[in-house]
Amino acid sequence: MQNQNIYILAIESSCDDTSAAVLCNDEVLSNVVATQKIHEEYGGVIPELASRAHQQHIVPVVHQALAKANIDKIQLSAIAFTRGPGLLGSLLVGTSFAKSLSLGLGIPLIEVNHMEAHILSHYIREKGIKRPEFPFLAMTISGGHTQIVLVRDYFQMEVLGETLDDAVGEAFDKSAKLLGLTYPGGPLIDLHAREGNPAAFPFPKPRVDGLNFSFSGLKTSILYFIQRETAKNPQFVQENIKDICASIQHTITEILMDKLKKAVKKTGIKQIAIGGGVSANSGIRNALSVAEKELGWKTFIPKFEYCTDNAAMIGIVGYYKYLEGNFSDPSVTALARYKLGGS
Ligand code: KG4
Ligand code: ZN
Repeated sequence: MQNQNIYILAIESSCDDTSAAVLCNDEVLSNVVATQKIHEEYGGVIPELASRAHQQHIVPVVHQALAKANIDKIQLSAIAFTRGPGLLGSLLVGTSFAKSLSLGLGIPLIEVNHMEAHILSHYIREKGIKRPEFPFLAMTISGGHTQIVLVRDYFQMEVLGETLDDAVGEAFDKSAKLLGLTYPGGPLIDLHAREGNPAAFPFPKPRVDGLNFSFSGLKTSILYFIQRETAKNPQFVQENIKDICASIQHTITEILMDKLKKAVKKTGIKQIAIGGGVSANSGIRNALSVAEKELGWKTFIPKFEYCTDNAAMIGIVGYYKYLEGNFSDPSVTALARYKLGGS
């Protein structure tokens, strides 16, 4: 075993991205993602269509990942796959594929918790990229998740807070939909916000105890605000799109930053690692760099391809589990709900 390279093929299919990656130890050799465009016309992910698209994509995506990595399947040490949380029909495609391949090749199968993977994506080794040291705080923000996690070690994580309703990406996307923007609207809000006044339209921030989040009230107050203003001026949204977007982005950023500040105060930890698609948001990134300067925080954001759903992050967890000999039984099943540190 000594000095022998470990090659992991990782598979991710928890939502609407079919992804396969090959890692050599903690370095990524390939990371192929097939994003399902079909959901755009529906303004959100349709689970039934997602699982069908995974069925179509999984074989070519795996082939491509192996080819790009220049690795033959007989060289693989193990297969890692997302067991959950996510859409059950989607998870079943990746789970079944991974189980069959591990049985066919006679190599270990490694189940991975998708949320753990977002967090450990910071441990993918890349030239010039610093990795957080334990303990650190992780905030995972995407279309499916909003969590603050205390990370003590690779597999010792405690959820300090999470959303009680919508994820932060949903808050962006649903607000964008109300403004007539296309799905997913988060990046478009960001784009308009860059030229708008964040203080133009103050929206109320939810009152949620502790470190949990709630975004459904914000969506409702934006809806009422737009209904009220367009009743007075039907062109209100078109005429004020930049200021509306900047105000929404500012409110969401403040909600996240308030909770992060609370988490730092509670734990005394100032290393903050961000992940998930929403970490691309310029308002959030600016707020984090201000906190670095003013509050002495050290913040970490992985490369964007490792922020959104991807198999490389599944592979890095696979690698650390492989080192521990933590393998799964072939009878393992997908779990739509899968808490960090347990089922
Ligand atoms: O991680 P991700 O690709 O997929 C999952 O949801 O798991 O995240 C997608 C989410 C969408 O809600 C999208 O609108 C949001 O991330 N997003 C953004 C930005 N880029 C992506 N939200 C705000 N600003 C952005 N720049
Ligand atoms: Zn995710």
